[in-house]
Amino acid sequence: MSASELRKKYLDFFRERGHAIIPSASLIPEHDPTVLFTTAGMHPLVPYLLGEKHPAGRRIVDVQKCIRTGDIEDVGNSWHLTFFEMLGNWSLGDYWKKEAIEWSFEFLTGKNYLGIVSEKLSVTVFKGDQDASRDEESAKVWQSLGIPQEKIFYLPKEDNWWGPAGQTGPCGPCSEMFYDTGEEKCGSDCKPGCKCGKYAEIWNDVFMEYNKTAEGKYEQLKQKNVDTGMGVERTIAVLSGFDNVYETELFTPIIKKIEEISGKKYEEENIKEFRIIADHLKAATFILAEGIEPSNVERGYVLRRLIRRAVRYGKQMGINEIFAFKVANVVIDMYWDVYPELRQSHNFIEEQLVREEEKFGRTLEKGMKQFENQKSKIKNQNDNSRVKIIDGNTVFDLYQTYGFPIELTEELAKEEGFVVDKEGFNEALKKHQELSRAGAEQKFAGGLADHSEQVVKYHTAAHMMLAALRQILGNHVIQRGSNITAERLRFDFSHSEKMTPEQIKQVEDLVKEWIMADLPVEMSEASLDEARDQGAMGVFESKYGEKVKVYTIAESGKIFSKEICGGPHAEKTGVLGHFKIIKEESVSAGTRRIKAVLE
Ligand code: ALA
Repeated sequence: MSASELRKKYLDFFRERGHAIIPSASLIPEHDPTVLFTTAGMHPLVPYLLGEKHPAGRRIVDVQKCIRTGDIEDVGNSWHLTFFEMLGNWSLGDYWKKEAIEWSFEFLTGKNYLGIVSEKLSVTVFKGDQDASRDEESAKVWQSLGIPQEKIFYLPKEDNWWGPAGQTGPCGPCSEMFYDTGEEKCGSDCKPGCKCGKYAEIWNDVFMEYNKTAEGKYEQLKQKNVDTGMGVERTIAVLSGFDNVYETELFTPIIKKIEEISGKKYEEENIKEFRIIADHLKAATFILAEGIEPSNVERGYVLRRLIRRAVRYGKQMGINEIFAFKVANVVIDMYWDVYPELRQSHNFIEEQLVREEEKFGRTLEKGMKQFENQKSKIKNQNDNSRVKIIDGNTVFDLYQTYGFPIELTEELAKEEGFVVDKEGFNEALKKHQELSRAGAEQKFAGGLADHSEQVVKYHTAAHMMLAALRQILGNHVIQRGSNITAERLRFDFSHSEKMTPEQIKQVEDLVKEWIMADLPVEMSEASLDEARDQGAMGVFESKYGEKVKVYTIAESGKIFSKEICGGPHAEKTGVLGHFKIIKEESVSAGTRRIKAVLE
């Protein structure tokens, strides 16, 4: 079965059972500022799971594009992907466990649908704990469908609980369906949930009846929801009898292109490199299609990591040309009919990939030399008793001068059995930022950080602009990206309509007012939880350790802006000068872009 047949069969199956088909939402979550990307079909539906009425009704079906970066290390094994598509059917306070499970079973095993023999299926249900009881109800439904007791596994929260997607929100126990590929690679006690590859998880029915509160409590939701998720790539692999996703039509054209570029074959010794390049560049292509650019913060940083990791593996395989855009073109050809945004952003995707690869390509080789030198030094120390550590200054130098994301250095280190001194790296980074803040005019070869005074001012202007946009347009406005040079600020945010000239003027005036008031920009450090409790905006994902910096702009107790941010920032708003919005335009559906200058 091809992917397009699968998508169609699935949508039709549920439409025939009273579900309305809705389109895939953006990869950038609109309703949830606590996560960077849409990691599952539920993000866009959070308000409706909480009880708001969905315009399409109470039964919904969709194919949602998703990005998951939490398990990037696992990419390259048989089943893990950074970008994937998820088929999902939803009950928003409508049907419950019996219907959900019966339909899942019917679609999986029905002759007109996937036709999987039921002997190949194993399922899991929630084991029960202090927050929710053992899910005998689901187990009974499975038994009634002929799944024998010994193929129903009771698993704890770590395995059989979904959500919330962010820190708080809808969640609940789930029942997962696994396909037994027959090949046990781990030894004896293999069961669903084991990562050896024998059991491929293909579908997850989540019974969302709880809301997790900021205090960590599980409250009963207003309505009982069903959220199901079935991975397109995995399902196609299973139906084709493959034991991994890379042999499916959703990857073979990409793999073929990489073979062509590298002159190498996709076989045992190269498998990891091929898979990582294919996965990462597919994900990067879809992220770029959302208008995100590689940068050093938030989504842009994830994007940068994906591209640079792919490029590094490409180099390692002997690719000596700029190649990422060629792979992206294959991805665009494969998917543009389902996701037309790829076509629309075609030029942007190519341009950004070429630029990022060139930038990194200029320093990658020198950086690798630097790493090799350091490696020999450490190896020559001849001290077997200690853990071998790459010191913080070297890691920082690789980051700052050669553009190596810290995760990349960590990976290189790990390959040698070394570890990196993260704390030392953080110290070095902090020292550097403080120096820059003091106004040192420094530019760096990698072009990774440009903290000249003007850039610092724009950082602060960006915080004020977000605060002003939220005041004038409403709290649905969250930052979707920003790009700052010494000349201008570009700022993307969630908002679906064109701003009126009056709104633009109001936002401009508010920022000007705060600049005139010469407000202090205070920095404090806090744990992520504390920052959240203080109501800080930003991304609640820790990159470099536990503590985050919170920048606050306030006057006599009245807070105008509070954001989690690495900084640096101006010390007082008065130094920013004359603020002016020069353009307001659309980037994609639901996202607007403002260009502003400080004169
Ligand atoms: N939200 C559920 C998942 O992603 C369906 O597994």
